[in-house]
Amino acid sequence: MKKTIATLKKMKEEHDRITMLTCYDYSTAKLMDAAGIDVLLIGDSLGNTILGYEDTLPVTMEDMIHHTAAVARGTKEALVIADMPFMSYQTSVYDAVVNAGRLIKEGHANVVKLEGGARVCEQIEAIVSADIPVCAHIGLTPQSVNAFGGFKVQGKSEEAARTLIEDAKKVEAAGACMVVLEGIPAKLAAIITRSIDIPTIGIGAGAECDGQVLVYQDMLGMFTDYVPKFVKQFANVGEVMTGAFTDYMKEVKAGTFPAAEHTYKIADEIIEKIQ
Ligand code: KIV
Repeated sequence: MKKTIATLKKMKEEHDRITMLTCYDYSTAKLMDAAGIDVLLIGDSLGNTILGYEDTLPVTMEDMIHHTAAVARGTKEALVIADMPFMSYQTSVYDAVVNAGRLIKEGHANVVKLEGGARVCEQIEAIVSADIPVCAHIGLTPQSVNAFGGFKVQGKSEEAARTLIEDAKKVEAAGACMVVLEGIPAKLAAIITRSIDIPTIGIGAGAECDGQVLVYQDMLGMFTDYVPKFVKQFANVGEVMTGAFTDYMKEVKAGTFPAAEHTYKIADEIIEKIQ
C-alpha cells in the first residue's frame, strides 16, 4: 500500500522507526521500493553524487524534476520526497509555491523538502496552503555551506541548540509534516524529537530520531570522494562494480564475451545468400 504522510505520523506515534534513503533514478527506486524502504528522497545531493559538483548549489529545478520523475516511475509504495534546490524558494513565497507545484505536477513527488527553520516558515505556510506537504530540514543545511563557512556540525552552543529547538517547533507550527535533522549532536536531536509531534529524520543526528536517512551511494560504498563520520557502509558495492567492470574488459579483450548464449541466430541459407 502506498505510504503517505499519515503513515509516517502513525509510525512516530507507534515508535516504529522510519527508513529513508536518497534515490535519483528508476532502477534504484524499484530496488528500494521492493526492499520496503518507507521514503525515497530525491535529494539535491544529486549535485554531488550524480553530477559531480562540489556542493548542491548549482542544482536546478530541471535537474530535480528530471530525477524526481524517474524515481516516481519506479516507486509503488514508498513516499517520494523531492528537494527544492537552492534559490527555488529563498527568493520569494511566490517562487516557493510555483516551484513546489512543479515538483508535484512534473516530477510526481508526494512531498517537497526545503532547508531552513524560522526564516522559511512563510514559504512553508504558503506551500502547505496549496495542499503540498512540506518536509523541513534544519541543522547542517548544505545549501548554507557558504554562510556556515564549510560543512560544520550545528547546534553545539547553548544559543545554537535553543535556536534549533525553536526552529523545529516553528516549522511544525507552519505546517511541515516532518523535519530532517542533519549534522547536530545526538542528545539535541533527541530533545527536538520529543518536543514536536511531527516525525524527525536524522542524518548525523544520532539514533533517537524517529527515522534515519542516508545518501545511498554513501551507504553502499559507491561514493568515496569523502566519507562523513555518520556514514556506515552497509556494503562495498563500489568494489563489486569495479570488479565487474574489470572482468568485462578482460573478457571483451580476450573475445570470450559475448559467448554463444548472448548472440542472436539466423538461418544458414540466408547467410549463404548474403555473403
Ligand atoms: O540532499 C540530500 O540528500 C539531503 C539528505 C542528506 C537529507 O538533503
